[in-house]
Amino acid sequence: MVSLATIRASNVLLSTHLPSSPTILFIGATSGISLSILQHISQYADAPHIYSVARPPSAPAHQALLSILQEQHPTSTYTLIEADPTLLSSIPKITSTLTTHESKLDMLIFSAGHLSFEGRANTAEGLDPGMALGYYSRLLTLHSLLPLLNKSPNPRVLSVLAGGMEAPLNESDLDLREPENWSVMAAAFQGATMGTLSLEHLAQQNPELSIVHWAPGVVDTPSLARARKFGVPAAAAEAMSAEEAGERGLFYVTSERYSVNDGIVPIEDGVEKATKSAGGIFLVGADGESKDSEAVLAPMRERGVPTKVWEFTLGIFEETLKLGGD
Ligand SMILES: NC(=O)c1ccc[n+]([C@@H]2O[C@H](COP(=O)([O-])OP(=O)(O)OC[C@H]3O[C@@H](n4cnc5c(N)ncnc54)[C@H](OP(=O)(O)O)[C@@H]3O)[C@@H](O)[C@H]2O)c1
Repeated sequence: MVSLATIRASNVLLSTHLPSSPTILFIGATSGISLSILQHISQYADAPHIYSVARPPSAPAHQALLSILQEQHPTSTYTLIEADPTLLSSIPKITSTLTTHESKLDMLIFSAGHLSFEGRANTAEGLDPGMALGYYSRLLTLHSLLPLLNKSPNPRVLSVLAGGMEAPLNESDLDLREPENWSVMAAAFQGATMGTLSLEHLAQQNPELSIVHWAPGVVDTPSLARARKFGVPAAAAEAMSAEEAGERGLFYVTSERYSVNDGIVPIEDGVEKATKSAGGIFLVGADGESKDSEAVLAPMRERGVPTKVWEFTLGIFEETLKLGGD
């Protein structure tokens, strides 16, 4: 377990180690873990350009919070992008805001998530909303922003979901279209596993990119309250505060420990660099340690499943964006 003391000591060093004016995009920071990451990075970053996506019902409260942060940090800029990341057709609005106004992207942080406990109710684009938020919209955003990320000296991606919890895929029905293949947990594992495989695929094509897929454990957020309401057994465990999870998330997206290069904040003496998956990303558990999913992932890689998953995903992007008129 990486101790909170180690994490705090590293995060404080961001004030001196984080280059001025970093550009950071959050999708899912209207509450919970990423809201805490956003608040913590606001304390340490010098004149950051922070972009945060909020769907329309959450936009007024999130704008109010960003306005308070703007007053507290006058040299920083906070931009709210109103969009619903459940819909792939809304992703070009998000990515074009960045490509229009920024010359590089330093950090991309995903944490919007949803579990369809009420049953599968497809999005207007015909996707399971959990897979749309946890997988498709994250990968479409990342794929679209790769040119901007590659202009950063140290590009970092944090996907808050289920790193290390990968499971065998339903390879014949990747988006679980057949009703008999879908369940709330099947969709969660399918999205998380496709996420790891596709993040690895993009990491291999973009070797300067440091990608962390993190399973945060049980954290006291609106998602947890919902999981408890629906009686999910794992949700009954003692929860970490969102405040602490945010400090941890900030560490995973800035420390050299989880970086393919020297990172932003060097590792403290005596702490070892985290181990990457064989596919080249950091699968990190609730304790901050690397998780080993090779027993599940290696046979899939040997059979070429990552390429199949990525080609299928590109097909979903093309089909969906065409339907949306983009
Ligand atoms: N908390 C835990 O115990 C836990 C455990 C394991 C994994 N995770 C995963 O970690 C990530 C972050 O979790 P969190 O607990 O910090 O989440 P959270 O605070 O409950 O929600 C994070 C974000 O998800 C968005 N969101 C929720 N439902 C949505 C929907 N139907 N459509 C569009 N956006 C939606 C929220 O937007 P709004 O403000 O608009 O609702 C918010 O911005 C999620 O992917 C979650 O599944 C959490």
